[in-house]
Amino acid sequence: MTHAEPTAIFTRSWSLYDLITEHNYMFHREIYSGVEDLLKRRGHHENYRLLDLGCGNARYLAPCLKRRPPEAYEGVDLSEVALAEARGYLVELPCQVILTHGDLLKAVESTDKTWDVLFSGFAIHHLATDEKARFFRAAGRCLSEKGWLIMVDVVREENQDRESFLNDYLKCMREKWTQVPRDQLEQACAHVRDYDYPECFSTLRKMAEEAGLRSAHMISRQAQHHTLLFSRSALAEG
Ligand SMILES: C[S@@+](CC[C@H](N)C(=O)[O-])C[C@H]1O[C@@H](n2cnc3c(N)ncnc32)[C@H](O)[C@@H]1O
Repeated sequence: MTHAEPTAIFTRSWSLYDLITEHNYMFHREIYSGVEDLLKRRGHHENYRLLDLGCGNARYLAPCLKRRPPEAYEGVDLSEVALAEARGYLVELPCQVILTHGDLLKAVESTDKTWDVLFSGFAIHHLATDEKARFFRAAGRCLSEKGWLIMVDVVREENQDRESFLNDYLKCMREKWTQVPRDQLEQACAHVRDYDYPECFSTLRKMAEEAGLRSAHMISRQAQHHTLLFSRSALAEG
C-alpha cells in the first residue's frame, strides 16, 4: 500500500471532512471532550510533550490543548492543505508548535525525542497490519516511562471481518450522514471502502503488549469510533 492514496481525499481538499465532523457524524464532540478529560488526568502541574500523528488540521485537538497546554506540540501529516489550516487552529497555543509534512510511521520510527503523549486521531486504520505493529513498536520506544498513547480510531468487533465492518459502516454513512451531498457522500464511501483497514481491539492490544505497552484501556466508544489508551504501567496514570 502506498501512503499517497489513502490520504488523497485529505490532500485534495479538507472541506468534505470538515462537513462530516461539523455534523458530528464521527462523534468528534464526545471523543475530543473525552480526550481533554484524559489530558487533564495527567495532572495540571505536570509538563508534557505531545506528538500528534495524522494531525490533519488539528481543529478538534487544538481547543483541548489550549485548556491543557503541553510544553511542546508536534503534528505530522501528509496533507499540506490540512497542515496549513492546522497553523491557524494552533496559533494561540502558548507553547512550541512544530508542524511536519511527512509520513506518520516514518516520523514515529525516526523521532529522537521522548514523548509523554502520542496522539493519533482516525489515522492508524490506514496502515496495513504489519505497519500497525511497527507503529506500536516505535511508540513503545519513544514514549516516556509514564507516557500515554491515546489512539482514537475505528475498530472492528471481535471476530468481525473487514468486509462485514465495511458493510455496516457504509450502511450507516448512507443512512445517517444525511447532510452530506450525494456525490460527496459517495466519494467518502469510496475512500472508506478502498483505504480503511481497522483492527479488532484484541489485535491492537496484542501489538501494544508486544511493544511493552502492557496496559490497554478502552476509554470510550461511540458506535465503531473508539478512544483507546495504551501505556507501560498497569494504572495508566501519569
Ligand atoms: C480522518 S483525518 C483525522 C484528522 C484528525 N486527527 C482528527 O482526529 O479529526 C486522517 C488524517 O491522517 C492523515 N494520514 C493518514 N495516513 C497518514 C500517514 N501515513 N502519514 C501521515 N498522515 C496520514 C491524513 O492526511 C488526514 O489528515
